[in-house]
Amino acid sequence: MKVLVVGGGAREHIMAEVAVRDGAELFVALNNKNPGLLDLSSEFLFCKDMNPIAISKWAHEKNIDLALIGPESALASGIVDNLNTLDIPAMGPTKSASRIEVDKEFMRDLSSEFSFPGQLDYKVCSTVEEARHFLESFGKDCAIKPIGLTGGKGVKVMGDQLHSIDEAVNFCEEIIDTQMSGYAKVVLEERAIGEEFTLQAFISGEIVIPMPAAQDHPHALEGDIGAITGGMGSYSQADGLLPFLSQSDYDSALETICATAAAMNSINSPYRGILYGQFILTSDGPRLVEYNARFGDPEAMNALSVLNSNFLEVSMDIALGNLKSVDFEPKATVCKYVVPEGYGTTPRSDCSLEVDSTLLSSSGASIYYAAVNLEENNQISTTTSRSAAVVGKGDSIESAEKVTEAGLKAVSGMGLYVRHDIATEASISKRVSHMENLRS
Ligand code: GLY
Repeated sequence: MKVLVVGGGAREHIMAEVAVRDGAELFVALNNKNPGLLDLSSEFLFCKDMNPIAISKWAHEKNIDLALIGPESALASGIVDNLNTLDIPAMGPTKSASRIEVDKEFMRDLSSEFSFPGQLDYKVCSTVEEARHFLESFGKDCAIKPIGLTGGKGVKVMGDQLHSIDEAVNFCEEIIDTQMSGYAKVVLEERAIGEEFTLQAFISGEIVIPMPAAQDHPHALEGDIGAITGGMGSYSQADGLLPFLSQSDYDSALETICATAAAMNSINSPYRGILYGQFILTSDGPRLVEYNARFGDPEAMNALSVLNSNFLEVSMDIALGNLKSVDFEPKATVCKYVVPEGYGTTPRSDCSLEVDSTLLSSSGASIYYAAVNLEENNQISTTTSRSAAVVGKGDSIESAEKVTEAGLKAVSGMGLYVRHDIATEASISKRVSHMENLRS
C-alpha cells in the first residue's frame, strides 16, 4: 500500500516507522529534512509552505492509497477535504471537524450544548470591558486563550503567568487588539487545579477506541519550572492508567471523549481521526482543558510504541468510517526529548546532533527525529524547536526510563538539553503526592 505521511517531526517519524512496519511503501511531505523520514521513504516532497493543494496533487500523481496527517496546521488548512476530493482516503478530520482544536469557541460551545461530562466554566469575550467584568465577577482564576491555533504559545494562566486581574485584562486586550490567532476574541476558562494527563483515541464517527493514558511535561526545565513548551517528554504505564490516575478517572475522561464524538456526529460533522484530550485530574475528577485533532507530540511516541494492531488497517478503517478494534502491548513507555539549549525562551539554533547507532541499538531504545535537518555533509543540524525524541519500553515505568536513559547516551552534540527528571521515581512520587493531597 502506498502511504503518504504529512509532516516532518518526531510524531510523523514514528507514524511512518509503524506504517512501514505494517507494510507501507512510504511517501512523505515535509518542510524540514528529517533524516528518519527521508531514510524510510521511497519518495518525498519538500514543501516549504506545506500547501495542502500542492501536497494533495502530488499524492494523486503518486497514486497514494492512504494519507496519514500529522500536524494540526495541515488539518486546519483542509488537507483531508482536498485529498478526499481526489478520492484519497485520509486518517484525520476534515476542516470542519478539526474545529474541535482550531476553534476554541466552537469546542466550548459544543461542550456546553451537549453537556459533556468534565466541562469547565468559560466565557468568550469580544471586548476588554466584557473580559474585565467576567474576571471580576467570576471570582476564580482563569486560563486565558486566543480562539485559534498559536502553536501552543498563546495561553496564559492566572496564578501562574498572570498575577492580578489587571495583568489578566491586559493579556485579554493584547489578544483582542492584535487579533491573535486571527480572531478579535478571547476565551476565559475556569482554571482547573490538579495533574494534567492526556487521553488519545482513535475515532471513526461514534466508534471510539482509547489509547493508554500518558503524561506530558510541558515545562522547559527539570523540576517542572520554566517556560511552557511543546512538551519535553512523556510516559505511559503498562495497564494504560497512570500512577495517579485510576480506572474510574480514565473512564470518566473517556466518557467526555465519547460524548464529543457523538456530538460531532449529531451536528453532521463526523469525526474521523485521532482525538487528543488534554485533561486535568482535579479532586472532583477529570476536567477537559482542550482537544487536539491529531496525535500528541510527544504522546504519539507512547501510544504508537505499543500499538500491536496493523496501523494501516486501523487508519484505513477510520478513514472509511469502519473502525473495529485496536490492540496495545501491555508495556510502559518513557519518551524524553533532546532539545537545543534555551528551548522555550531563547533557543540556540546552531547545535548539532550525532547518534551512535550501535550504542542506540544495544540500549533497546528508539530515536525519532524532530525539527532537524540532514545537511549535505550528512551532519544533522538543529533548529530552534525540538530535535529528537528517545523512547524506551519496559514492563514498568522504572524499567522503560532506564532504557530511555541508556538510549540518550547514544546521542551527543553541541548545545543540547534533556529533562532527565522525566518519569524518574522522584518525579512520579511528586505527582502521586500532589493528587493525594488534593483529594484528602
Ligand atoms: N503534547 C502537546 C501537544 O501535542 O500539543
